Order: sequence, then structure tokens, then C-alpha cells
Amino acid sequence: MSAGGRGVWAAPGRVNIIGEHTDYNNGYVLPIALPFTVRCAASARADGRVGVRSRQRAGEVAVAVDDLDGARAPGWARYPLGVVREYVKRGYPIPGVDLSLDGDVPVGAGLSSSAAVECSVAVALRDLFDYAVADEELIDIARAAENDYVGAPTGILDQSASVLCTAGHALFLDVATGDRAQIPFDLAAVGLALLVVDTNTPHALVDGEYAARRAQCEAAAAALGAASLREITDAAEVEKLHTATVDGQEGTAPWDDELLRRRARHVVTENARVLAVVDALRTGADPRAIGPVLSASHTSLRDDFAVSCPQLDAAADAATAAGAYGARMVGGGFGGSVIALVEADRAEVVSAAVADRFAAAGFAAPRTFAAVPAAGARRLE
Ligand code: GLA
Repeated sequence: MSAGGRGVWAAPGRVNIIGEHTDYNNGYVLPIALPFTVRCAASARADGRVGVRSRQRAGEVAVAVDDLDGARAPGWARYPLGVVREYVKRGYPIPGVDLSLDGDVPVGAGLSSSAAVECSVAVALRDLFDYAVADEELIDIARAAENDYVGAPTGILDQSASVLCTAGHALFLDVATGDRAQIPFDLAAVGLALLVVDTNTPHALVDGEYAARRAQCEAAAAALGAASLREITDAAEVEKLHTATVDGQEGTAPWDDELLRRRARHVVTENARVLAVVDALRTGADPRAIGPVLSASHTSLRDDFAVSCPQLDAAADAATAAGAYGARMVGGGFGGSVIALVEADRAEVVSAAVADRFAAAGFAAPRTFAAVPAAGARRLE
């Protein structure tokens, strides 16, 4: 066990540069970690119980490790408890633990506050109980907690970013193979800034819509004779999609061909956009050149994947009109945040333009900040 049986760990939220709704299609992603984290102070106990507190929530939850399956814990506590449960399920016993959480990752902004909670707890338990858990398994433990105990059917983008990102870099991850590379991402060095606009829009309906997108992507892959949409690299292939060609599916497909073509088109073209951005950054191209690729991602998410909303569209459009090289929604969609690539000395002007557009439209005021790639999960004390 870790010295003294206690310590403090931190894990960050993330923003994805490009590669949206590609992770659960075995594709590519390119996130950075944000300087906002969730801190988890953890101390071992020997009585078989888990205690969870959060500085941002009222009340304290205490549950027997053996009773986690049926526990009726409040929503916020299910993220840390789900991680404890996942360790136990995988044969890493937890003799008891107190978890005290404190965080500054904006909640509901599409910046992965939930993955930050899960990953801070996952690294805390690994170190506290000296378990030889590789990063890949740690990420999977955090994802499984969210999928199975919280009930959100996410992929592994957020947890991978929270654990694997490093300061000054974007993480290029190939979800199919697990291959990854740290891509230098120093916009300030070339006079640029990456603005994050939190639109202050709740993710209405996101859970059901997210699950529907996953199912539509799986149906599209099946209709194209592929195990996943990652296997389709030629966008022209997508236009050949006909569900009637799937054995036994004729006339019974729950979605029409055109809808599935659109969903597949987004994923296939988005994977190509990630590769184009990584190639530009690796070959030392001017990062301004990735702006139009970011905007193309937004158009694809809005028109083909249908996960945008008026506030996200307004933020991306107002930022571009005010001089951003490119802008796009990030995360699952239906609310949350937009990123915009801007000249550093235009950041204020672009933020003001977005705020003005929101005020004119009667939307809640947005919150804008400049993001610099920060470090992934780590021990603090
Ligand atoms: C959410 C999910 C991720 C990913 C994104 C969309 O953030 O948690 O797994 O699918 O949406 O790219």
C-alpha cells in the first residue's frame, strides 16, 4: 500500500481538437487536456466500506464495497463508486477507502468533468493499493464505470485524454490499435490561441441521442459489410450503402438508407480530417491551415451527424465571422462547447463577437477561455 495509506491525485478535463464521434467507431481522436482538474484525496480503510464526498455537492455517501451493485447512490457519487466497483469486478480487491473530491472542470460544458472524476479515482486506487494496472486498463476501468454504473454509453476518448495527455501536446490516438503519439501543439509560439466557448447550454436529450448515433453507426457499418466504420476509408463507398443488402434486414431497417449514409459519411470524413490535421502539425505546416478542417468538422457534425444545436451553430458562426480561422462544436453535442482557432491578439474581439451574437439571440451568456494543452492524470501528494 502507498506510504501512509493516503494521498492526493488529479485528473484533467479535455477538449478534442478533432475526431468527434469517431472513438466508438474504432477511429482516430486528437484531444488535449485542460488545465482544469478533479482532485481526489484518498485514504485506505479496512472496514470494507467506501465513503465519498465532493466539495461541490452536499452530503456524504457511504456504501459497503460488497453492496455497490444494488446501492441507490445519488448521480454524482455513481462516478467514483463505479470505479471502485470496476476494480473489484476485475479482481483487484478494495478493502475500503475514503474518497474526497474537489474539482474545477466546468460541469455540463462537454469538457469531460465526468471522466476527470473517474480518472482521478482510478489513479488514486491504483497507487493507493499498489495495483499493477497499465494505463490502457485504467482507461478501460474508468470507461466501464461510466458505461455500466452511470449508464452513459460513451467511448474511450475522454478517459484516454484525461490519463494520457501531456502538457504542450495533443494526443493522437488510434482507437482500433491503441497506437498513440504526442503531437507538439504550441499555438502561442506562432501567435495563435485556441478559444473554448462554453455555450452554457444543457445537454438536452443527449443520452438517448448519443446511444442512437452509436446504433446508427453500427447499422451503417453492417450495411457496408464492415466490422466498424473505421474500415471504410473511401468516402465514395458510403454512397453505396443500402440496408436492403443486409441479410434478413430488407424492409425492417429502423432507419432509412439516407440517414445511415449521412451518419457514416460524418465518421468516414472525420477520420480523414483527423489524419489531415495530424499530418499538418507533424510536417510543421502553419497551424492556421487546420482552421478550415475544424470548420468542416462542424458542418459535418451539424448536417450529417445531426448533433449540433442553435447555440453551438451560433458560436461557431460568430467566431468565424469575427476572424477565427476555424471553429467547431466539441464533445457529444446538443449543447456544451465550441472551439475556435484565432490570432492571439484577436481573442478578445472574437469572444466579444460571440457574446454579442448570444445576447442578440436571447441565449444565456457564454463563457470563453483560451486553452493551453495541460498534463494528464498524476499524483499531487
Ligand atoms: C462524448 C463521449 C466520448 C465521445 C464524444 C464524441 O464526449 O464521452 O466517448 O464519443 O462524446 O466524440
